[in-house]
Amino acid sequence: MQFENLILEKQDRIATIYINRPKALNALNTDTLLELKDAVNQIKTDDSIDLLIITGSGDKAFVAGADIAFMQNLTAMEGRAFGALGQKVFMAVESLEKPVIAAVNGFALGGGCELAMCCDFRIASTKARFGQPEVGLGITPGFGGTQRLPRLVGMGMAKQLLMTADIIGAQEAKRIGLVNEVTEPEELINTVKNIAERILSKGQLAVRLTKAAVNEGTQADINRAMTIEADAFGLCFSTADQKEGMNAFIEKRKPEFTGK
Ligand code: CAA
Repeated sequence: MQFENLILEKQDRIATIYINRPKALNALNTDTLLELKDAVNQIKTDDSIDLLIITGSGDKAFVAGADIAFMQNLTAMEGRAFGALGQKVFMAVESLEKPVIAAVNGFALGGGCELAMCCDFRIASTKARFGQPEVGLGITPGFGGTQRLPRLVGMGMAKQLLMTADIIGAQEAKRIGLVNEVTEPEELINTVKNIAERILSKGQLAVRLTKAAVNEGTQADINRAMTIEADAFGLCFSTADQKEGMNAFIEKRKPEFTGK
């Protein structure tokens, strides 16, 4: 499939999506969101791919937000539909069975910060800048920011960022737990690929079940959450990867997982 607003690369079990609208600092319009949805769907059903990296084209922006020029004259109903589309696409990223890492290479503002937050975790370059500037435009965040930011950094810090529209640097984002690691810009993709390799060397069914247990369990009450974990744990014992992982340990050798 040919995309106009993003680039999809696939290599060595890793897919990389580059949001690619350099003239608008990779801002998200409807077409870009729809292409992102298609790309995620493609990755979901591609058995040769086990992990997704999302980043921005160029060296300035990850994604500078939803497209303000596009939103400028929307009606209330059009605004609602645009927000709902972004939410739906980001939910598809979040619930993709395969791990998703955000490689944040520059501005991650508004919808860009929200895109980074629907990934499993974020690695940032020193050039990354994060923020939810929406109130400065007279709107609320619309692609999940009011919900994912407090879940990631806590209610008080999230409300301060959401209400002030302050933009923070990569180190501050790391300090508050929004990103896990900060690298030099030229090392960003290699750092992310290195983390990806460590994930890919493990049993992929277990990785996917772990992701699902975290995502579903943290939305449930503790009793239901423990059942979700117990079910995931139990299911692992039906897999070849569990046999191989434990046999390899007992036989003091490296496991050779098949993802089966
Ligand atoms: N939408 C549309 N176009 C955008 C854009 C956006 N979010 N961000 C940047 N651009 C465009 C600019 O209009 C400019 O285009 P022209 O060259 O045609 O004028 C081009 O990208 C380069 O941007 P700047 O000249 O502004 O670059 P800068 O280095 O001076 O500033 C910036 C960079 C601080 C990121 C600044 O561009 C900026 O503040 N962008 C908007 C950030 C923002 O408010 N994002 C939130 C959007 S609302 C949202 O996302 C709602 C939601 O939750 C769904």
